[in-house]
Amino acid sequence: MACVNFRAGNRMTSCGARGGWEMVTALEEGIVERGLDWRVEKAHCMGKCHLGPTMRLLPNGPYIMGVQESDLNSVLDMREENAADALASALPLPDDNA
Ligand code: FES
Repeated sequence: MACVNFRAGNRMTSCGARGGWEMVTALEEGIVERGLDWRVEKAHCMGKCHLGPTMRLLPNGPYIMGVQESDLNSVLDMREENAADALASALPLPDDNA
């Protein structure tokens, strides 16, 4: 599940303003390239807006914040290996002030 919520203005940031749509597009492309039978469920706010783009590996995986396109191969590798905890610790939390 990946957040693509977009808020206009600068009062409160959002995943859509922090690369959420680009992340989803790249993730979907990676899934197709690997021939995986997975889907990306788009969410509209997961409550971690200032740390986004936010993703959660379903059904019971951790939240992963600040995912960038350059992280997606690692995300797919670790997800294929069912190493959700390793994935969560491999991706550092983004800077709160970014
Ligand atoms: S806008 Fe993505 S978690 Fe809130």
